[in-house]
Amino acid sequence: MKRLFSAPADAEVEARGWIYRARSSGAIVFLVLRDHTGIIQVTVKKGNLPDQDFEAAHGVTVESSVKVRGKLFDDKRAPGGKELRATAFTVVGPADTFPITEYQSEELLLDNRHLWIRSREQTAVMRIKAAAMAGARDWLKENDFTEVTPPILTTNACEGGTTLFKLKYFDRDAYLSQSAQMYLEALIFSLDQVYSITPSFRAEKSRTTRHLTEYWHLELEEAWVDNKGNMEIQEQLVSAMVQAVLRNAGDELSLVRKDIEPLKAIVPPFKRMTYSQAIDKLHAQGYEISWGCDLGAPEERALTADETVPVFVTNYPKECKAFYMKEDPEDPRTYACADLLAPAGFGEIIGGSERETDLGKLVARMEAQGICQDPYQWYLDLRRFGSVPHSGFGLGVERVVKFVCGLEHIRDAVPFPRTVSRVYP
Ligand code: 4AD
Ligand code: MG
Repeated sequence: MKRLFSAPADAEVEARGWIYRARSSGAIVFLVLRDHTGIIQVTVKKGNLPDQDFEAAHGVTVESSVKVRGKLFDDKRAPGGKELRATAFTVVGPADTFPITEYQSEELLLDNRHLWIRSREQTAVMRIKAAAMAGARDWLKENDFTEVTPPILTTNACEGGTTLFKLKYFDRDAYLSQSAQMYLEALIFSLDQVYSITPSFRAEKSRTTRHLTEYWHLELEEAWVDNKGNMEIQEQLVSAMVQAVLRNAGDELSLVRKDIEPLKAIVPPFKRMTYSQAIDKLHAQGYEISWGCDLGAPEERALTADETVPVFVTNYPKECKAFYMKEDPEDPRTYACADLLAPAGFGEIIGGSERETDLGKLVARMEAQGICQDPYQWYLDLRRFGSVPHSGFGLGVERVVKFVCGLEHIRDAVPFPRTVSRVYP
């Protein structure tokens, strides 16, 4: 990414971009031009360019697309330290009065999301997200994972029926995928270590700052790996993502969060505690939660408020988690599973576990929970044909971006958020 103002002073350049700010005083027009590399100050002075070009600059509106030719000069006060003095100016696409000005309601910004994503903060978050995802892919490639492409249209629930989006699939019912996990489990038999990055869908009725109805899901599945090994992979992957953001999107990070220092501490090993230890810690803080209840956002916040690295909470009671997890032989009331909670109260970013390989146990649980086995026959087959110990997990990409950027709401971690109340634009 070559910044406009990285050219030396005196260089002749042609800049293409959008008008970020415009101000006129008689025979001189002050503009700020925005392109994908940043912003630069432009001055357009009558006499330095054809009259027709001057008039175009004089009347230009915010967010018009323009081309400017001119010479660069050093100017300490200008953003980026350079000013472009125009010798030619053309409007490519004029802009109507831009609906977004400095102080706007959240609703107006969301209704105009297609325009609001041009803002510097939104742009920075998208770059940070791209850097995090590239960091993940780099790590996965180095560590011999194969990227695979599971389906989005499915006939079985992975994470329970209550958050399924149902749709008409010709003359029968199908669902939008909640998780690629079961398909990834099928793929480890030939590829050993796999991952996918797909949209996942949750018909979550909850209006919270950490739930989307459509989010990007990075999921891994590993043959021959137990829950302990699974956690080691998670801490390395999350660290690789955060460190890649620090390396490759440092300027963007500084724009969106006050202090980037705490992110440097996100390196292995992360902290580990069992669910039972978590309950004890919560009791000591005055929380009234009984063993067997799932941890909600307030509990997760309390557990990590003072932490500087993410925290694994392992061994959840079976009643809190999905039927496919492996029973922990050392504490059969619990599963060999872990949720990874981001520090400073940001909450769950990963859910993962070792998978149950005992066909009898799986079937018994499905029966006890009233889960119809028909749509899962293919899944159960995986235990009938060369079953292997294995583990995996799912990372919510926007949850990680929310944490890395320090965002208040998860919707700002995605350009076009889908929530209970919003599917437009
Ligand atoms: O904990 P979850 O439900 O686990 C699974 O779906 C497993 N089948 C994944 C696997 O083992 N392959 O979801 C995994 C992660 C959560 O930790 C969270 O980060 C994210 O997905 N997530 C959401 N992100 C945004 N909005 C939502 N409604 C989310 N629900 C889950
Ligand atoms: Mg979860």
